Amino acid sequence: MDKYNISTKDQYNSIYKDSITNPEEFWSEIASKNFIWKNKWDTVLKWDFKQAKVNWFQGAKLNITENCLDRHLQDNSEKTAIIFEPNNPKDSSEKITYRSLFERVCKMSNVLKEKGIKKGDRVCIYLPMIPELAISVLACARIGAIHSVIFAGFSSNALATRINDCGSRIVITSDGSYRGEKIIDLKGIVDDALSECKIVDTVLVVNRINSKINLVDGRDILLKPLLKNADKYCDAEIMDAEDPLFILYTSGSTGKPKGMVHSCAGYMVYTAYTFKNIFQYQPNNIYWCTADIGWITGHSYILYGPLANCATTIMFEGVPSYPDFGRFWDIVEKHKVNQFYTAPTAIRALAKQGIKHIIDKDISSLKVLGTVGEPINEEAWNWYDKNIGKNKCPIVDTWWQTETGGILISSIPGIIDSKPTFATFPFVGIQPVLMDSESNEIIDNDVVGRLCIKFPWPSIARTIWGNHQRYVNTYFSTFNNMYFTGDGAYRDADGNFRITGRVDDVIIVSGHNLGTAPIEDVINEHKNVAESAIVGFPHEIKGNALYGFVTLKDSSNVSDNTKDEINKLISDKIGPIAKLDKMQLTEALPKTRSGKIMRRILRKIAENDFDNLGDISTLLNPEAVEAIIKNNIR
Ligand code: PRX
Repeated sequence: MDKYNISTKDQYNSIYKDSITNPEEFWSEIASKNFIWKNKWDTVLKWDFKQAKVNWFQGAKLNITENCLDRHLQDNSEKTAIIFEPNNPKDSSEKITYRSLFERVCKMSNVLKEKGIKKGDRVCIYLPMIPELAISVLACARIGAIHSVIFAGFSSNALATRINDCGSRIVITSDGSYRGEKIIDLKGIVDDALSECKIVDTVLVVNRINSKINLVDGRDILLKPLLKNADKYCDAEIMDAEDPLFILYTSGSTGKPKGMVHSCAGYMVYTAYTFKNIFQYQPNNIYWCTADIGWITGHSYILYGPLANCATTIMFEGVPSYPDFGRFWDIVEKHKVNQFYTAPTAIRALAKQGIKHIIDKDISSLKVLGTVGEPINEEAWNWYDKNIGKNKCPIVDTWWQTETGGILISSIPGIIDSKPTFATFPFVGIQPVLMDSESNEIIDNDVVGRLCIKFPWPSIARTIWGNHQRYVNTYFSTFNNMYFTGDGAYRDADGNFRITGRVDDVIIVSGHNLGTAPIEDVINEHKNVAESAIVGFPHEIKGNALYGFVTLKDSSNVSDNTKDEINKLISDKIGPIAKLDKMQLTEALPKTRSGKIMRRILRKIAENDFDNLGDISTLLNPEAVEAIIKNNIR
C-alpha cells in the first residue's frame, strides 16, 4: 500500500493504527519513500517530554528547498508553482513556474550570501504577500539561514521586539504595501523599528509601490539591481535534520512573544504529508489558502507543504472586501481553484454580505473547503457548506497551532466525514487525549477536557528561541509527560473532537492569537492609567473581541481622548489587530482577598451574563462589581 496517499477509510484506519503502534517504522517509511535526502538518519525518534526534547530523523542530511524545488525540475519545470494574485484586480496575475521559482530563489540566496549571511544566521522578513516574500523565505532555507517572518500588519515596536529577540542583522522589506484601498508605508515602519535595533546593518528593499523612500546610506539597498546581477544557481546548504529552519513568533499569555523554532526534516515530512491528504491534492489541482505567510498557516500550507508536493499554490496580496466582497469568488472563478482554505472570521464577514457577490460567479471548480484558526460556529459552517460548497464539497475544519507546525486534527475528504463545528479525528500519528482538572486522562467519550498530545509528531516545535525553560514551562509542565495545547475540547460519543477554545489568557480575535497580559502592559504605559484587565467577549464576525476594563490614576483628569489615546498606544506598540473593541473606565477592578484581579467575573460582565457572576461576597471589593455593572457601556 502507498501510505503517502490515503484514499479510503479502511486505509486511514490501518495507516493510523500502524502510525501509533510502530511510529518509528511508520515515519521512517513515509520519510524515506517520499523525500530526497543527502544522507539517511541513524535514529528515527528520540524524545523526552519532561525536558521538552524531541529529535526526528537524527543524523539525516537534507535541504528542504531541494524537496520543494530542485526535484520537480526534471519533469515539472514548466508547471506553475505559485500564482500571484495582486491586490488590484486590474493588475495582471503572475504565474511563476517551478523553473523560474528555483532561479529566483537561487538569485536571492546569492544576494544574501554576498551580504555575508550564512548558515544559522537569522533573517527577518517583513514583506507583504508578494512573490519576494516566498522567494526570501525559500532563499533563507536554501542557504541554511533561519527565517523569521514578521506579519506586515505588526507595528514598528512589535517588529523591533522580534528583530532583537532573534538577533537578526538583516531585514528584508518593501517600500510599502497595498491592502485594499490602503497604502502602508512599510519602509517607514522598519526605519522606526531600527532605531531600537542596533544590530541590524543591512536592509534589503523590494520596490512594490514605487514610492519615494529614504535609503539610509550604508544600510539600505534596493534589491532589484542586486537580483539582476546575481547568479541563477546556488548550491543548497546541507542541513542536519534537526537544524532550525525558521522561527515564528506567537503570543504568550504573558511576557514577550515566543519565538517558536521549527526544524528542517520533521517539519518538511509532516507538512507535506498532511497537505497531500487533508486537501486530497491531486496533480494539476489549483490550491488556494488565503492566509498570510506571516503566520504559520502560510508557512506550512501556502509554501512548504504545497511546494513539497509539486502543487500550484496561490498567493493573494489583497483583502476579501476589495474592490468588493466578491473578490474571493472572482479569484476562485479566474483560477479555477479546487481547494480553498480560509478562516472562520473571513467566512462570517462574507456571509454577512449575503449571496449577492456569489450568484454570478462560477465557483464550480471547488472540491474541498477548509477552515483554520478558531472555532467555526454552526451558522458560518452551514453558510460555507451551502453557498460556497453547494453541499457537495467536504469541509475540513483543521485544528492546529504555530507550535504544532502542521494540522493535527481534521476530517479528510471522502475518508473521515466532516461534522459541523467539529475538527473530528486525529491525523495519522497524532495521539490526542483529554485531561481533567486533577490531571487524569479522561478515557470516556461525550466529555470535555484539556487537550493534550501524548506522543511526539515530526513537526512539533523544538524550543522557544533563546529560552528553552519557557518552552518546558509553557507546554510540558501542566500535565506530566504530555504536550499541553492550551485549548479545551469536547469529544462526542463517536470520538469526534470539537475545540471549545483557549483555556488560558490567550484570546483569539479574527483568528489572531492575542495574549492579554502584553496588551495590558501597553495600556498601563499610558500616563494616566493605574491598572487594566482585558477579557474576550463573543463577536459576530471576529469570533472574539477585546473588552478592556481600565482604572485611572486621576479620574478627575479624563479627557475625551483618553480611550482613543489608549487604543493608539496599543496600535503603535502591538498593531491595530490588538485594539480594544470596548473599553470601560472604572474606579476599581474586582479583586480576590489576595489581590488578584477576578477575570472570571469581568468575562461574565463582558458577555452580558450578569446572572451568572457567582458568589461575589468573598471578593475584597464587591462594590467594584456593582459599580462596573451600573456603568456598563451597553
Ligand atoms: O485555539 C486554537 C485555535 O488557534 C490556536 C492556535 O493559533 P495559532 O498558533 O495562531 O495558529 C493558528 C493556525 C494554525 C489554537 O490553540 N485554532 C486553530 N485552529 C482551530 C482553532 N480552534 C478551533 N478550531 C480550529 N480549527
